[in-house]
Amino acid sequence: MYRAAVLTISDTGFAGGREDASGPEAAAILKSKGYETVHYAILPDERKCIADELKRLADEQRAELILTTGGTGFAPRDVTPEATLDAVERLCPGIPEVMRAVSFEKTRRAVLSRATAGIRGGSLIVNLPGSPAAVRECLLSVIDEIGHGLDILCGRASECGRHN
Ligand code: MTE
Repeated sequence: MYRAAVLTISDTGFAGGREDASGPEAAAILKSKGYETVHYAILPDERKCIADELKRLADEQRAELILTTGGTGFAPRDVTPEATLDAVERLCPGIPEVMRAVSFEKTRRAVLSRATAGIRGGSLIVNLPGSPAAVRECLLSVIDEIGHGLDILCGRASECGRHN
């Protein structure tokens, strides 16, 4: 069972102004897929604060999968992708590419998502958009392949193999 962490990035949620439905939605999907969510928190849209927490979750908590929700759009305070880039060592562009492609079928505004994904040590960090519906659509579109990626990252599988 892989260890997961969920971070909701929202100034309003952090200030207690709105109950967070997106983080719990991500955690519920993770649970249904056999992950143990070992950490859940709400952070403000502060680049250094987010980056420091991502590094701590990877280096100290050793969560193999770290999901963020929110802060990926065009609002002036949306800095989750930049904070993620501060923390990761290797990029995984295929994950956000598929999330945007799948989401685009439902809403053309999916092109406005600036979400990124990358690897830090033995941890994969993936940005999700901020709404619960978007979390569900995006996470379900990639979660099974993420499992295989973690198997390779953690040495439980040695190669991708061919599936066509
Ligand atoms: N993806 C899905 N599946 N469903 C959505 O409703 N909303 C888009 C996009 N991705 C959306 C989506 C919109 S309108 C924005 S602005 C971006 O996600 C960024 O959202 P965020 O700022 O809440 O992270």
